[in-house]
Amino acid sequence: MGSQSGKDSVERTSSSDTTITSRNDRALVPCEIIEDQSKDDAENEVKRTLTRIRTSVGDLDESHLIGRYKEISDIIDLISNKDIRFSQVISVWGMGGLGKTTLVNSVYQSPKLSDGFERRAFVTIMRPFNLADLLRSLIVQLQEEATKEELLKNSASKNGSLTMMGVEALTKQLKRLLEIKHCLIVLDDLSSIAEWDEIMQGFCWIGKTTRIIVTTRKEHIAHHCSGNDKTVRNLDVLKEEDALDLFSQKVFGKDTEFANKNPELVEEVNQILKKCGELPVVKAIDLVKKNPELVEETNKILKKCGGLPLAIVTIGGYLASRPKTRDEWRKLNENINAELEMNPQLGTIRTILEKSYDGLPYHLKSCFLYLSIFPEDHIISRRRLVCRWTAEGYSSERRGKSANEMAETYFTELKNRSLILPSQQSVHSRKSINSCKVHDLIRDIAISKSMEENLVFRLEEGCALSTHGTIRHLAICSNWKGDQS
Ligand SMILES: Nc1ncnc2c1ncn2[C@@H]1O[C@H](COP(=O)(O)OP(=O)(O)OP(=O)(O)O)[C@@H](O)[C@H]1O
Ligand SMILES: [Mg+2]
Repeated sequence: MGSQSGKDSVERTSSSDTTITSRNDRALVPCEIIEDQSKDDAENEVKRTLTRIRTSVGDLDESHLIGRYKEISDIIDLISNKDIRFSQVISVWGMGGLGKTTLVNSVYQSPKLSDGFERRAFVTIMRPFNLADLLRSLIVQLQEEATKEELLKNSASKNGSLTMMGVEALTKQLKRLLEIKHCLIVLDDLSSIAEWDEIMQGFCWIGKTTRIIVTTRKEHIAHHCSGNDKTVRNLDVLKEEDALDLFSQKVFGKDTEFANKNPELVEEVNQILKKCGELPVVKAIDLVKKNPELVEETNKILKKCGGLPLAIVTIGGYLASRPKTRDEWRKLNENINAELEMNPQLGTIRTILEKSYDGLPYHLKSCFLYLSIFPEDHIISRRRLVCRWTAEGYSSERRGKSANEMAETYFTELKNRSLILPSQQSVHSRKSINSCKVHDLIRDIAISKSMEENLVFRLEEGCALSTHGTIRHLAICSNWKGDQS
């Protein structure tokens, strides 16, 4: 993501391979309205409106953020809450590619926060985790915000000397920068409780007005960091209309982005320009109206993406470079599974999603692969799944817990990692979820991995039984027309 000031920096802060990405790009500059008394009102109005457009297009250029307005204002409310008992830490969790970093970055850059915090720092935690590098990055960013006077007082604060400092000295330095001031710190992509605990050892003295936003893929880490359920947020997939909006922008470019986001502004400016005898400045590019032949294929693609922004932008970005014809898009739909594996551009989605699978402990891997026996979009009952895992030997009695209880914990663990999505909340209990679904792209991974492992063999259209050796489960799909060999 670019920065408003063009100041995105990737700094190699030590001799280790770890890099810390800092995002000190600042909130959007408020729209500058140039008044010119010598011109008549209509002309001034055009100028004012054009300036607003430039600013709005500028915003979109920077963030490319679609939807999420409710989530942004919710998080802003949380970090603006002055009540210390509430929690200083706000955690946002959800599966890879859901848009956690993008969302939190928008909050971080929000003009609404510019008065609330005197200093800010945004650090993406890199692997392998290195506390010293993380502290250095925080110091560098927070120093950029310190006044000259403060810097003079801190002779040790020159960046050059930071590289020589150990964790203890860095912590002291950070303390000087943080205490008393109102600070906002974003720790993006935390992957373990151990990392958090290590960071917190140096943070125990942070001022009461400091707020920390954490993003993580895992629910239990989010709860651990916040220490208060009220400040934990599970990010949802994009709503249908936002998914279409994001897809259209990716495929058709900025004009759509602006027009879709500011329909009332488009109308307004075009009317003013018309009065002045000018041609319209921007026109809405409505995918449905302008490209009706693509609508059916678009719907199929978006269904496959299941509201996951990463999937939408990756596939949209790929299609943007291809001819915008129904045949081309149909081809992609037909080959989407193969494309996901073979096309390097699309392969990134898979690589990212596969990381969630690779990170599973062995017992959860098998439980996850078992999900590939269910049909697409199938709502899987929790009770049924747990009983099946138990009956099929995927869970066994351990540490005083029955096999069934263990299977229950597996369900929760997979849900926490967003590999299964809760689909229905029990009416009797607000806590428990009584059914789930598997994201299409995640299911594709389960299918190919379970075939590789000879765990599940799927009899689908055009498949022959004889081509495979020993397998554990056989799934017969409704489109299988019998053995053709
Ligand atoms: N609301 C949104 N509007 C536009 N694009 C988005 C939105 N959310 C996410 N994206 C796009 O999706 C991609 C993935 O988003 P992001 O990196 O924020 O996901 P993440 O949840 O942080 O993933 P990870 O867990 O892998 O860090 C981004 O490159 C961004 O371009
Ligand atoms: Mg992220």
